[in-house]
Amino acid sequence: MTPPDAPDRTPPADTVFHAGRLVPAHEASLRVDSMALRYGLSVFEGVRIYRLAGGGIRPWLLPQHLDRLRASLSAMRLPDPGVGEVPGVIAELAARNGITDDAYCRISVSADGPGLIGDEVRPVLSVTVRPMGRKRWLAGPDGMRLSVSRWQRPSGAVLPTHAKSIAQYAGSRIALAEAKAAGYDGCLLTTPEGNVAEAPTATLCAVHAGELTTPPLTDGVLPGVTRAWVLAACRDLGIPARPLSTGVARLRAADEVFLCGTGLEFAPVRALDSVTVPDWERRPVMSRLAEKYFAEARGESPATDVVWSSVD
Ligand SMILES: Cc1ncc(COP(=O)(O)O)c(C=O)c1O
Repeated sequence: MTPPDAPDRTPPADTVFHAGRLVPAHEASLRVDSMALRYGLSVFEGVRIYRLAGGGIRPWLLPQHLDRLRASLSAMRLPDPGVGEVPGVIAELAARNGITDDAYCRISVSADGPGLIGDEVRPVLSVTVRPMGRKRWLAGPDGMRLSVSRWQRPSGAVLPTHAKSIAQYAGSRIALAEAKAAGYDGCLLTTPEGNVAEAPTATLCAVHAGELTTPPLTDGVLPGVTRAWVLAACRDLGIPARPLSTGVARLRAADEVFLCGTGLEFAPVRALDSVTVPDWERRPVMSRLAEKYFAEARGESPATDVVWSSVD
């Protein structure tokens, strides 16, 4: 099994799919004058591949990720280069790269070829599949210390917030660098109204007196596939759950806070700025969700019905 907290390791035969061909990773490149680099024109998905209890592997929540990818293409006005072939490409790459355990697949569509800002785009589809195990927050007993950042998630008046576009991450990266320099493990981006939005690459969930809330999509957060799974799974588990705008004071009053997302899976939050989250060690709601998540992902129990949508 992939050891806990395994970094995204490169398989010996790192074959990737790029522009219609299976090639060694070092041969898959975009031009330096591509519109992707000039204007930040690239949308992507991160998909987990899980080892099944009964043997074999399976991309997890792939149809929902592909729905979001198509929505991202449409929002960013990029043509579809053939997203329908992604499931077959993933299977082929997993076989070529000898993937038999948990892995991470990145699918991107980028504006290849030179051009000026108003020019037509030539989209190129790229897919990578590489081993990835648990991050330290699930593998060990620790919890994250997060700061509430002065940096904001771009509002819907800046970029389409439901699009998973690389352009969204330029500011989040600065926010994360600032938080790390101040000794935190991560940060929460805010909204123009001063609410908390999400972490740079994960959804925020808070629990108050047994009720789970997560910032609503109208607050400009990415419509996370894991977020959609969490809201649906809470219904199955009888945990009250709803999207709700949350200010810093409300968040600080939570019994439990955690992050969730494809790459991170689940991560308990131990402290917000210098304030300790009371139930961070017991993390009762996150633990129930994580247990259900892995049972489903590994095919040990039927999968929750999850519909991805760009609106709540
Ligand atoms: C900004 C942002 N929010 C939330 C998430 C979690 O989304 P998902 O559960 O679809 O991975 C991600 C994941 O990459 C992200 O980049």
